[in-house]
Amino acid sequence: MRTLAVDIGGSGIKVIVLDEAGEPQTERSRVETPAPAKPEPVIDAIASLAAAAGEFDRVSVGFPGVVRDGVTKTAVNLTPEWIGFDLATVLSDRLGKPVRVANDADIQGMGAISGKGVELVITLGTGFGSALFVDGTLVPNLELGHHPFRKGETYEEQMGRAALDKVGKEKWNNRLEKAIASLQHLFNYDSLYIGGGEAKKIAFELPSNTKIVPNVTGLLGGIALWRD
Ligand code: BGC
Repeated sequence: MRTLAVDIGGSGIKVIVLDEAGEPQTERSRVETPAPAKPEPVIDAIASLAAAAGEFDRVSVGFPGVVRDGVTKTAVNLTPEWIGFDLATVLSDRLGKPVRVANDADIQGMGAISGKGVELVITLGTGFGSALFVDGTLVPNLELGHHPFRKGETYEEQMGRAALDKVGKEKWNNRLEKAIASLQHLFNYDSLYIGGGEAKKIAFELPSNTKIVPNVTGLLGGIALWRD
């Protein structure tokens, strides 16, 4: 039983094939996210990556917005056409395989957490992703990214890629250090995991309960959508 794991990001779309144990069976492949990132060109991009990936039996997709029952509900960093789009059904019809879809940060988390205690996951990429787990159970639909953080701006406005490009690494790092302190006080979590493509830019010493997870975790966690 092979799973095609897909991660739809604001800048790249990535896939990898996993075996039943969640071990990678292929290299990760990636294409640029089409601009504008409307459903049709994004699905075309996934279909061409899938065609080059070899054999698979089912598909897990990480999506950068709120997802409910395979339907995408928000898509701040893509386009408005995604609101209310039945991604699971449309992609399943296109690929001829069963498809499950979840929020991208939730999938990162599923690939990263230990399953014990209160565990928070944040992802630093185009957007600011978040996922909260209690003894391994996901608290659904946590969207810290769009919650007020400081100076009248949200976590994503202060720490998303647009902010990083605008204010530079040093300020971005200062903001992130403040954000981590604030989140620790809010959630009193046991562990914090930081994923996403920009996590490698972190330049300060993280608290001992905090760990950077490799970007590929956003694909590896996809196996968890089929564990039921
Ligand atoms: C979205 C989240 C997503 C995050 C990272 C945010 O803008 O609202 O759902 O997890 O970006 O892609």
